[in-house]
Order: sequence, then C-alpha cells, then structure tokens
Amino acid sequence: MSGKLSDKQRLRIQTRHKVSIQNYGYQPQALFWSNQEIQELRFQKLLEFLPDYIQVGGQEMWSLLDVGCGFADFYRYFQRHDLTPDYTGIDLSPDMVAGALALSKNLNIQVGELADFDYADNQFDFVMLSGALNEVVETEIEGTLSEQGNYAKSVISKMYQISKFGIAFNLLDRRYAWHQSRPDLQSFYPDEMLEFCQSFADEVVLIEGYLENDFTLYLTKTERSA
Ligand SMILES: C[S@@+](CC[C@H](N)C(=O)[O-])C[C@H]1O[C@@H](n2cnc3c(N)ncnc32)[C@H](O)[C@@H]1O
Repeated sequence: MSGKLSDKQRLRIQTRHKVSIQNYGYQPQALFWSNQEIQELRFQKLLEFLPDYIQVGGQEMWSLLDVGCGFADFYRYFQRHDLTPDYTGIDLSPDMVAGALALSKNLNIQVGELADFDYADNQFDFVMLSGALNEVVETEIEGTLSEQGNYAKSVISKMYQISKFGIAFNLLDRRYAWHQSRPDLQSFYPDEMLEFCQSFADEVVLIEGYLENDFTLYLTKTERSA
C-alpha cells in the first residue's frame, strides 16, 4: 500500500489549488467547499470526537495535527469555540500554506503530505483530516475501488499510528449518484471503510446523515495500545 504520491500527482493537486486560490482568494470555495456552512458542518463533526473534558471548558493543553489543513480554518473554528490546541497543520499545496500563514501568522504549518514527515508514534494527542482525501490519486484503469483508495488507507493508518488518543476524518460517500458525474473525486462506501478501520483500530464509530455526500469516522485508541 503506497503512502507517497508520485511527483505527477503532487503537481496536479498543487496546481489545482493554486488556480482555485487565484479564482476565489482565501475563501471556502478555493478549498472546493461549496460554502462556509458546509465546511464548518464537517468541522463540527470532527470536533465532537474530542472527549468532554476538552470540549467543556477547553482549558486542557492538547496537541492536534490537521492533515491537509488548507487555510487552517479549522484552527480558527476551534478558537471560536474557546478551544486552543497546540496546533500543527500540514498541506501539500505551498499556496494553501502561504494563505494559512497570511491569515494566522504564528501557526506551525508546513508544506507536505503525511509521508514527508518523520512523526513519532503517539506524537499528537489527536490527528484530524477534513477533505484532504477527496482527490483521486491512483490511476489504474483496471483497479478495483479499494485499490483506488489505497493511498487514503495508508494515510489513515499512519494518522492512527502517530496519534495518542485517536483520529477523526471525513470522506466522500460513494452510495449516491453524484459521484458518477465527478470521476475526479475519490469516494468510499462507509461500510467498507468501517471494516478497514476495524481491522487495526481499537474502537471505530461511523457518523453519517449530516450531509448526503459525506461521512465521518472516529478511531479511538484504548489505554492499552496508546
Ligand atoms: C477540501 S480542502 C480542505 C482544507 C481544510 N481541511 C478545510 O476543511 O478547510 C483539501 C486540502 O487538502 C490538501 N491536500 C490534498 N491532498 C493532500 C495530501 N495527500 N496530503 C496533504 N494535503 C493534501 C489540499 O491542498 C487542500 O488544501
């Protein structure tokens, strides 16, 4: 299962985002979200993964890695909910990272995909991802759906490995007709991803029904494996 993009795939994603920023500026549309409400509904579902002792009061110090952070809007969303994680963001697009740093100067944000970084096991309390696995990155014409999703699966496994308490992420839902008109977008069957995550994670929860084209997975580490 390959965890690294080819140069060609990297360049394609970087170019797509360069053009989208030129077209829309630092707006959710440049991230390929239809609007801020849709973007933040996804954030809300990720935030709900955090244990109550963090969500209520928010005084605990905790670290978060945001994979494919875009403009780091997730960080500002946390701030608006009185939460201030020790935040690290990574994103494949240098233009996105430049945008994130223009919007929030002192954040720790770096250019790259997850496999570019040498993070230690259990390094971050939580690792989250919103929308960064929506690109089709494999091109095998005869590949099955699960083969096409191998990159996403390798990223998810790695996220789990470097998290202390667990991970939360969303994916596009393949059960609806919309995906037939968007062959450029990678989508998944929720049950298949649930089964994949259950093959290595201690506890897995599937969250659906909040948007027609999206679902969220929570993978929690128990004390034994953390
Ligand atoms: C749909 S946008 C979401 C951005 C942000 N998470 C948000 O919700 O506001 C996806 C982001 O993931 C980045 N991205 C795409 N593929 C990536 C990968 N393999 N590794 C890291 N970042 C990636 C893109 O550059 C883009 O900024």
